[in-house]
Amino acid sequence: MASGRGSNLQALIDAGRKTGFPAEVVLVLSDRRNAYALERASKAGIRHRHFAPKDDAFFLRMGDEIESCEIDLICCAGFMRILPPDFVSRFAGRIINIHPSLLPSFPGLRAQKKALDAGVRVAGCTVHFVDEGVDTGPIILQAAVPVLPHDDENTLSERILVYEHRIYPLAVRLIAEGSVRCIDGAVQYAGDALAEQRGFISPVSE
Ligand code: GAR
Repeated sequence: MASGRGSNLQALIDAGRKTGFPAEVVLVLSDRRNAYALERASKAGIRHRHFAPKDDAFFLRMGDEIESCEIDLICCAGFMRILPPDFVSRFAGRIINIHPSLLPSFPGLRAQKKALDAGVRVAGCTVHFVDEGVDTGPIILQAAVPVLPHDDENTLSERILVYEHRIYPLAVRLIAEGSVRCIDGAVQYAGDALAEQRGFISPVSE
């Protein structure tokens, strides 16, 4: 599900086309008719639909579409709407989100600006299971990205985005392989090198 330019969607589409990747994007939904994400889906030959958020039944209709396509995992990729509790419980443990901060710091809009305003030296991005909060829920992966002295919102956002495009497909792979699960609101890793790494990626350690 995407609302905007869909660069994270593209990272997932590209990953899904690589040999041996255990998942693929089969449906793209957007709340914005002109979202470039829909264009990306169209170019990739992937089923895509716009749902107008005009009434309370919006999430019901999106959920029905998702169920009719037998989707295993819902990825919010720049989907800028708060999911209502009945949608979250309908797909419990099967919705993930990417956010451009080291959550739980800086949830919500313009996370990179909030990080700059707070003067943090390390920013980053997070993939997490979605619960009923805004950018909350059990954390699957995080990447730490340094804040450089002359960063502005754009330069920091771009540096973080590079890592978003890495950790989002990685998180999907781990879930599809069964290496990561959400059990009773907590993330569990199983038999993978990432279990030792505890889902942390950093340019500092690379
Ligand atoms: C990404 O930076 C993503 O992390 C963020 O929106 C951007 C979408 O870019 N999501 C959130 O802030 C969610 N709270 P994209 O459309 O190019 O993937």
